[in-house]
Amino acid sequence: DATPALLERAKNRARRLGVIDRFQTLEAELPEDFGRLGEADLIWAGNSLHHLGDQRAALAGFAGLLRPGGTVALVEGGLPTRRLPRDIGIGQPGLEARMGAAAATRFEHMRSELPGAKRETEDWSALFTAVGLVPQGTRSFLLDLPAPLSRPARDHVVASITREREVLGELLTAEDSAVLDRLLDPEDREGLHHRPDVHLLTARTVHLGRRDTP
Ligand SMILES: C[S@@+](CC[C@H](N)C(=O)[O-])C[C@H]1O[C@@H](n2cnc3c(N)ncnc32)[C@H](O)[C@@H]1O
Repeated sequence: DATPALLERAKNRARRLGVIDRFQTLEAELPEDFGRLGEADLIWAGNSLHHLGDQRAALAGFAGLLRPGGTVALVEGGLPTRRLPRDIGIGQPGLEARMGAAAATRFEHMRSELPGAKRETEDWSALFTAVGLVPQGTRSFLLDLPAPLSRPARDHVVASITREREVLGELLTAEDSAVLDRLLDPEDREGLHHRPDVHLLTARTVHLGRRDTP
């Protein structure tokens, strides 16, 4: 990863799980640093391939690092997260769906500005085949934390909506922005800090491709 804070977080997690003795991180900016990555049996790219302008070329780069029998795991796609009911009793119903549409616009803008940006049909199985890997299937993992949320899960929801409020800024209507301000106000009884209907429901999808043994 190119972000030291994220690598530090991963390291702390490995320490907590007792696997720090076989865990290392490498600060690297792709695609420039492909040559520094070394060989691998498993390459796990968690929601990161889409940050590279030429996803096909990057996947070919990963394929080139795999030892025979090795696997590339791509976490891409899945489902948009839901944290609130469709109608929360304030503003227009469907707030999270509109936030999702704004996020899709922002995502497209982010991709268009990447160096060497290329449009690619995101058929990961077809792309695995195109770079010489054998598709091994796709699996989705559900996170389903119903209301009422624990304090840490509620804190996560507040943090994620705070970030979305910041980055989606002008892509949201003034009315939706005002509703988000209310939701984020710790004093507001209808806000995220207090309302009983806050939940956390999402799915992440992992796509696998393997390099055949000769
Ligand atoms: C959405 S986050 C995913 C983080 C983490 N892999 C996960 O699964 O939760 C995207 C990550 O891609 C990293 N990233 C973006 N562009 C990159 C690049 N050109 N080279 C290396 N890492 C990059 C960012 O630093 C960020 O940590």
